[in-house]
Amino acid sequence: MENNNQKKRMLSGIQPSGDLHLGNYLGAISNWAARADEFDNYYFMADLHTITVRQEPADLRRRSLNQLAQYIACGLDPEKNVLFMQSHVPAHSQLAWVLNCYTMFGELSRMTQFKDKSAKHKDNINAGLFTYPVLMAADILLYQADYVPVGEDQKQHVEICRDIATRFNGIYGDVFKIPEPYIPKAGARIYGLTTPTDKMSKSIPDGCIFLMDTPDVINRKFKRAITDSDTVNCIRYDKENKPGVANLMNIYSTLTGQSFEQIEAEFEGKGYGAFKPAVAEVVIDTLTPIREEAERLMKDKAYLNSVCKDGAERASYVANKTLNKVYKKVGFLMPER
Ligand code: TRP
Repeated sequence: MENNNQKKRMLSGIQPSGDLHLGNYLGAISNWAARADEFDNYYFMADLHTITVRQEPADLRRRSLNQLAQYIACGLDPEKNVLFMQSHVPAHSQLAWVLNCYTMFGELSRMTQFKDKSAKHKDNINAGLFTYPVLMAADILLYQADYVPVGEDQKQHVEICRDIATRFNGIYGDVFKIPEPYIPKAGARIYGLTTPTDKMSKSIPDGCIFLMDTPDVINRKFKRAITDSDTVNCIRYDKENKPGVANLMNIYSTLTGQSFEQIEAEFEGKGYGAFKPAVAEVVIDTLTPIREEAERLMKDKAYLNSVCKDGAERASYVANKTLNKVYKKVGFLMPER
């Protein structure tokens, strides 16, 4: 469990299966960036995971590199964070195979994401979808990560990772660090603008603010945001009865640092007609510099490729140490050098 660095290690990934959006930014990436000095950080594009669902090859390739540009534009400094493509570090696939043999069919069958996704993609219930959590466990365990920042929906995957690691350690001794999920505070959870009880998702683009959306598009999406079904046109935080307003207040509060009481006071006597454009404005103010920087970086392929290469090298160094240890433990003959 080598980590000579005294700092605790953080690791997370996002699948480049869609474009990054405000939910990814406020719920994940902005928090990662804010903690960069406190931890030893590994963040990757989980491209291997994306093919559990069919992808258009050219789109996947473009989104993977764009996601890296957007990570950097959101403030993830490649010096302070090891940024890499999962597929550039073969150890992920290699450890996943080994861990597949230490994971039970029954425990994978109980995973809610597998049940959901296999219901959604009935024509492609492939084995990769089933063993998805094993690859994710490999992602985490290779780096001996202390903390894994994930949304509530991925908590079960961190739990199965802990179970697999504990089982393996029980047989072979202390090989893996047992990671902890690191769930962001409730405030960081962003819901869809048109479906305010479901988390913001690329699959409902009208209610999803993408990091690359222009001010016009952002204004239009906020204009159409659902507020509530009652007719009281007032700004009040009531998650139960006014989830749409609560979500907008949450976005506004996260971006301005104002409390819900302060927001209620600011918009006292004003209606949604005043509030929605105000939220759109702070979102535009936040995303414009990110979009501009990402656009600049996306054109600089040489730079992005150099970040990828450097990231893959730094990640491989750590990952291969763990993989070698695992290979020895399970009894593989080490090749002569
Ligand atoms: N499954 C995660 C998601 O869809 C992405 C992911 C893959 C991940 N490997 C990981 C997250 C390892 C944290 C750690 O959100």
